[in-house]
Amino acid sequence: MQKKSLCDISTQGKRVLMRVDFNVPLDENKRITDDKRIVESLPSIRKVLDSGGRLILMSHLGRPKGKVNPEYSLAPVASRLAELIECPVTMAKDCIGIEVMQQVLAMQDGEVLLLENLRFHAEEEANDPDFSRELASLGEVYVNDAFGTAHRAHASTEGITHYVQTAVAGFLIERELLYLGKALQEPERPFVAILGGSKISGKIDVLENLFKKVDTVLIGGAMVFTFFKAQGYAIGKSLVEESKIELALAILEQAKGKGIKLLLPTDVILAPAVSGDVDFYTDKISNIPENMIGVDIGPETAELYRKEILSARTVLWNGPMGVFEIDNFAAGTMAVAQALAEATIKGATTIVGGGDSAAAIAKAGLAKEITHISTGGGASLEFLEGKDLPGISALND
Ligand code: 3PG
Repeated sequence: MQKKSLCDISTQGKRVLMRVDFNVPLDENKRITDDKRIVESLPSIRKVLDSGGRLILMSHLGRPKGKVNPEYSLAPVASRLAELIECPVTMAKDCIGIEVMQQVLAMQDGEVLLLENLRFHAEEEANDPDFSRELASLGEVYVNDAFGTAHRAHASTEGITHYVQTAVAGFLIERELLYLGKALQEPERPFVAILGGSKISGKIDVLENLFKKVDTVLIGGAMVFTFFKAQGYAIGKSLVEESKIELALAILEQAKGKGIKLLLPTDVILAPAVSGDVDFYTDKISNIPENMIGVDIGPETAELYRKEILSARTVLWNGPMGVFEIDNFAAGTMAVAQALAEATIKGATTIVGGGDSAAAIAKAGLAKEITHISTGGGASLEFLEGKDLPGISALND
């Protein structure tokens, strides 16, 4: 996608309205537990401030369903951002209205204003034209750097572009497109994709799109049990998508037809319940008892997958190998994370497709060892599915 970027425009002395994705996780004390999305927005933010622009930031946080709810206020983000950029960040009470407009018009060069949660207005998600127009009136140029929200055609991402002359991509979006785009278009080979997660239905579109490019696919997560059931194995009480059994067989056939090496686990971790308090053990996939649930890939599989990952020049990972939130069932996911880190050191380009896999990399403490970790969950998935992201398509060519 050839889109204009923040580099292509002048922001000096201008009111720069920037859509960011500051939808960060908060704990019960409203402390930010992962500030990656804020940190990744800093290059664009600094560029505007260094050039003497007046920066108006807007974002959503959570899903307050169109109503004002202090639980979802962006105030904790304003404090964190101020720490990171070492300059004051003024928090607006709302994102539209006379008071906000007055605040905006009183801004000086180099100042930062963070608007309150866009989703306190139902018009944001409804992509309401009047709301879009009102947001647009706050800035002289519009920058979208909210990759995580680029798959939503909302007022602040898509609607607004109809009411501004200048609508460009920020550096975070550029970086996401560079890495995810290159993997889809011209990956260095061998290209290994690792797909995990609980359901085939959630990953089928990604799988089909990746089949056009990959050399090897490694499958993990509970979706393996649908493949195993399709192949006639007993899977005990493991999760299965009965309606996708035919599809699983078709995927295996398709891979064979295209000469793609598609690997499934050879061993699994078994437990009587998905809980941190139960005993668990490893066994072959041909040996799953009636009363057991598969909760992770086993060590033999982890080693097999590690070897494949280390032989790659491009690695793309989306979806955990097991129930990694429970420490006893995290070994397979951690082993894959570790293998990605090793592959990066060996010179491969390693890309993590956001969401759960990004959380797993963070849990493994390996975030700095990976070439690119996407800030998008749903957005990176839709991008990998080959879908159009309306927040990006709408920007100036
Ligand atoms: C995300 O966290 O994936 C984005 O911020 C989008 O949030 P949403 O799924 O609530 O639209």
